[in-house]
Order: sequence, then structure tokens, then C-alpha cells
Amino acid sequence: MRLILLGAPGAGKGTQAKFICEKFGIPQISTGDMLRAAVKAGTPMGIAAKKVMDSGGLVSDDIIIGLVKDRLTQPDCINGYLFDGFPRTIPQAQAMKDASVPIDFVLEIDVPFDAIIERMSGRRVHIASGRTYHTRYNPPKVENIDDETGEELIQREDDKEATVRKRLEVYDQQTKPLVEYYSSWAKNGDASAQISPPSYRQIAGTGTVEE
Ligand code: AP5
Ligand code: ZN
Repeated sequence: MRLILLGAPGAGKGTQAKFICEKFGIPQISTGDMLRAAVKAGTPMGIAAKKVMDSGGLVSDDIIIGLVKDRLTQPDCINGYLFDGFPRTIPQAQAMKDASVPIDFVLEIDVPFDAIIERMSGRRVHIASGRTYHTRYNPPKVENIDDETGEELIQREDDKEATVRKRLEVYDQQTKPLVEYYSSWAKNGDASAQISPPSYRQIAGTGTVEE
């Protein structure tokens, strides 16, 4: 199973990714989590990426495409993978198509703007694992503590309201075109591609986490 979770910041991609990856035994490839790990480790890429991420912008396509191509060579990708927060621009999607990276499903999680703002403001994360909680909708067993490791949870730098608004704007301009890109490929095919088109589904992201 090889799939892409598409959706605005805060739509619940990371939350749903954990369920899907566990169910199908596939790795979650979250470019956001990979970048946050690089920031935490203080690598040159992490230092450069931090500025862009904190401002709500996107890290350059070249860096992201290199990161993902590299990740795909690891043995755990043999049975499939889930892309969370990638691709995020047309050039990223095109690079995967050109490299014939197969995709079976593209799932678009659809959530209204107001709900997103509320979700981001209550989000708490365990940086090392990428596990995500919400103070109200998905609280940890002990306040501000990760259920599995007992380590502290933090609020992401880019979850301040002004940055969230900027991220939503960037999503509209640069990522939303992927909805058309993939739904049209799924519907009409693409003679220039060496791989089969994915199936495209839109799912409502407004139920509870379990729904
Ligand atoms: P990234 O980490 O990918 O952030 P994002 O796409 O903005 O998405 P989020 O992680 O904010 O939201 P999510 O959809 O995963 O929601 P979650 O499950 O956490 O990227 C961060 C930055 O890195 C980018 O801004 C960019 O700078 C850079 N970057 C990353 N990838 C890149 C790329 N490919 N190209 C260029 N730059 C890139 O849920 C949100 C909250 O809601 C949580 O608190 C959760 O508990 C709660 N929640 C979830 N589901 C529900 C529900 N059903 N009901 C109620 N609450 C819910
Ligand atoms: Zn996420």
C-alpha cells in the first residue's frame, strides 16, 4: 500500500497517518517530522529550514525531493509507505511521477478553516516520535506528557495564530493545485507517466479522531 495524505495544515494528516501506518505496517514519511528532527539535531539543513518553517513558508523543492528520494531507498519502504505533508507543490509531485515512484491512493482530508485554527492552537507534540495530541480533543493521559515515553510535550513554534494564517495562505497558493493535479491524473490518466494513476478519494476530516 502506497499512499499520499493531502490536506491543509492541521487537517489531521499526522493523526490519521499513525492509524493507517500501524494497520498496514508501512512507514510514515512525514517531511515535516523529518525537518523538525533536523532542526533538533542542529544539522546545517535543520538550521536553514528552521527560519523558513517558523515563518510559515515552504522549504525549497530541491531539499525536500532529495530528502524523500533518500528515505525511499531504506528497506522499510519495500512494502509501501505513506506520505504525510508531501508532495506540497506541483514540482514535488512531478518529481515523484518522473522518478516513477508508485502511488495507489491519494486521500484528501477536508476540514473547514475555523476548525483548523482551533486544532492548531490546542496541538501538543512529542518531537522525537511525531505523536500528536490536542489539549481538548485528544488529550494525553497526563497533562503535557507523552503517553508512551513519559517525555514532555511541546507546542510547535509555527502554531502561533499569525503563522498558522500564513501557512494556510501558502497552502491555498502552492498545495491546493495538487487536488486538481491528482484528481485529474486519477480520472484521465497520463500517457507520459511510466506508472499507473492513483485512486483519488476525498474524506471529511471533521468527525472525531476515530471516525
Ligand atoms: P508539517 O509538519 O507537514 O505541517 P502541516 O502540513 O502544516 O500540517 P500539520 O502537521 O500542521 O497538521 P496535520 O494535518 O498533520 O494535523 P495533526 O494530525 O497534527 O510541515 C511543517 C513545515 O515544514 C511546513 O510549514 C514547511 O515549512 C515545512 N515542510 C514540510 N513538508 C514540506 C514539503 N513537502 N515541502 C516544503 N516544505 C515542507 O492535527 C492537528 C491537531 O488537531 C492536533 O492537535 C490533533 O490532535 C487535532 N486533531 C486531529 N484530528 C482531529 C479530529 N478529527 N477532531 C479534533 N481534533 C483533531
Ligand atoms: Zn503533521
